[in-house]
Amino acid sequence: MSVAKKQYKRITTNSLVEMKANGEKISMLTAYDYTMAKIIDGAGIDVILVGDSASNVMAGHETTLPITLDQMIYHASSVVRAIDRALVVVDIPFGSYQSDPKEALRSAIRIMKESGGHAIKVEGGKEIKDSVKRILAAGIPVMGHLGLTPQSIYKFGTYTVRAKEEEEAEQLKEDAKMLERLGCFAVVLEKVPAKLAKAVAKSVRIPVIGIGAGNGADGQVLVTHDMLGMTHEFNPRFLRRYLDMYTAMTDAFKQYKADVKSGDFPNEEEQY
Ligand code: KIV
Repeated sequence: MSVAKKQYKRITTNSLVEMKANGEKISMLTAYDYTMAKIIDGAGIDVILVGDSASNVMAGHETTLPITLDQMIYHASSVVRAIDRALVVVDIPFGSYQSDPKEALRSAIRIMKESGGHAIKVEGGKEIKDSVKRILAAGIPVMGHLGLTPQSIYKFGTYTVRAKEEEEAEQLKEDAKMLERLGCFAVVLEKVPAKLAKAVAKSVRIPVIGIGAGNGADGQVLVTHDMLGMTHEFNPRFLRRYLDMYTAMTDAFKQYKADVKSGDFPNEEEQY
């Protein structure tokens, strides 16, 4: 059941900050194509993330690293065409913003110009400060992403919970405050202890959107294909599955095959 405190015709970055101030939780899901985005937007989800998880979900890569800027723009432009209400945030992919702030700005501008997305998301804290500053200075809204940042998976070595140790937790808190100071409109916290996420959410005015970060965050994001149960080999503790699409789709495909083989499909009404 929806517990919206205010009706929004169109979600903007300011609406999200207002939602946090009003104590209204923010809903966010991923989409990479027109059809899925249309359904998600129609259901009233506040933010659609064109995540670089498209690299895993759409293209079958093991990590998010291989997806290119051109491919992200293709996915994002398909999503943008479907939207009436949601804010569309687009991941800036690995290798398109790390070398220097000018490259970061060029990539961010390409996303905004060529896809029509409303904002970009970057992974990292103090190490990307200058790039974030430069992108924001061009008037492009930026969402941060801290904690488990999948573009750094080869540095971390595993997908386990981040910032369990004091030193990393302190750095994460500082990074979140820095992103707020720079002018980011929100920050994603992925796979960190619930207590830490709650403390970060309390310490900043901008919304903290959690994934595997507990209920103290200001909103939640999931990968749509995971929450629909289309993927079934990925079973982290934080994932709630709302459907078992893997089974439903497999059954439908099997039934279709049986109907074709038996000659049952198409019947009299299904032909011209
Ligand atoms: O790429 C993605 O889907 C993400 C979410 C998991 C936050 O970054």
